[in-house]
Amino acid sequence: MSNNFKPRIPKYQNLADDIKAAIRVGTYAPGERLPSLRQAAITHAVSLSTVQEAYRCLEDAQLIETRPKAGHFVTRRPEHLLQEEVSAPPAYAMPAAITELIDLVMSSVQTPDLVSFGSGYGDQTPVTPGKIERAMTKALQQSVGVLSRFPAVCGHDGLRKTIARRSLSMGCVLDPNEIVLTTGATEAISLCLCALLKPGDTVALESPTSFGFLQILEALKLRAMEIPTHPRYGLSVDALSLAMRDSKVNAVLVTPTLSNPMGTNMPIGERKRLVELITQKKIPLIEDVIYNDLSPQAALRRAIKSFDKEGWVLTCSSYSKTIAPGLRIGWLHAGRFGEQIIALKTAFSGGNCTINEITLMNLLAESSYSRHLRRLHKMNRQVLQEARKTIERSFPQGTRVTNPDGGSTLWLELPSKMDSQILFKACLDSRILIVPGTLFSASRSYLNCIRLSIPRNFEKSHIKALQRIGELASSLLKESGS
Ligand SMILES: Cc1ncc(COP(=O)(O)O)c(C=O)c1O
Repeated sequence: MSNNFKPRIPKYQNLADDIKAAIRVGTYAPGERLPSLRQAAITHAVSLSTVQEAYRCLEDAQLIETRPKAGHFVTRRPEHLLQEEVSAPPAYAMPAAITELIDLVMSSVQTPDLVSFGSGYGDQTPVTPGKIERAMTKALQQSVGVLSRFPAVCGHDGLRKTIARRSLSMGCVLDPNEIVLTTGATEAISLCLCALLKPGDTVALESPTSFGFLQILEALKLRAMEIPTHPRYGLSVDALSLAMRDSKVNAVLVTPTLSNPMGTNMPIGERKRLVELITQKKIPLIEDVIYNDLSPQAALRRAIKSFDKEGWVLTCSSYSKTIAPGLRIGWLHAGRFGEQIIALKTAFSGGNCTINEITLMNLLAESSYSRHLRRLHKMNRQVLQEARKTIERSFPQGTRVTNPDGGSTLWLELPSKMDSQILFKACLDSRILIVPGTLFSASRSYLNCIRLSIPRNFEKSHIKALQRIGELASSLLKESGS
């Protein structure tokens, strides 16, 4: 992996990285005590709060642990963390051709008695079905006659206003009249790409990236330029800048907060640099903020759009991850490209179902949605921790796993001999669904990786299934002679 592209990072992060490196090379051995906060502040010439924040990061990453009245100690098994190196995809654009593989994975979802790590919901939508039904019943009462009329193309005014208000928490002041409601984030992103690009054009995106993005690119005959991506800090702005210098890039598509599959978070300074870069080059940037509400850290909910002065950023999102995927409600704000988007939305669908939109508006009633998010943050943290513990105990030596700050997906890098497509089939025979890493890259990289979406109803059957995946992976590695 290449180390050429280092994002600009805050002081505490630099310190955390230095200590992490020291742990990796054995300067601080497992079980050993780290310097006290005061001592570390003097040694590294930083403030006490910088050291505190750095130690907190290391603790979150389970590299160190705090023992009351004794200090900070290196944990015993740091080797399970994903390496802090940017990915190294090919430096050229290529067609995305992954539909066949996606079909294979998706068709498996129907297998009876399946324990699924394919999608984060398990049997539970983020909001309980009863609550959704009540909100929909109320919406029906509020919308007499709406089904006998065509809806407004851009969607229900009340919901657009609610979304504009909620966007303040991402640092964005959006005019509700410029928000277009869509069928999920998928339609929002598709409309943007369709309005801005023509077949054969190139989209720069994270590597690995959401397979849904690659599917849209394939459908629109666009080419993917995978950009080196850091497992914690996301897309490398320096690498993107180089790619733009060396090749024609027509648009950028990025998920700044809790990207899928690695759960990366771009530092705020990098988001600002990214806007400066695309504004200077006059290249539109589509940001997907679908996971922003799932970040427990308010600062990381900030959208790239909040730095956009000239309208080159198109922001897309939906409530599939926080309310209910079945409502299929997403939205976008297209910056300077509003007119093109509305023309396409008019031509393609003429609007969405108003009852669903009013249902969502009811569900988003301010205080209860904030409470609901806090509950989701807590649940996600607990299930990710449980799952990581089981993975550490049950997966083959050399397996590395991400430790995302929020969301509900884990990205695992298994020893290099592992073929995740064979592992996928073996798991399916054991009635377990995992997603092979190759789905997340146009260049079919990440053959030894898998994505696990940890369901919120994580229970004994999931622990057993994770143990089984570990066993299967170990025996496949043994067969391959590793
Ligand atoms: C990053 C990202 N964007 C968009 C989507 C799809 O969103 P929607 O269900 O709103 O179309 C997903 C779904 O997994 C996703 O991970």
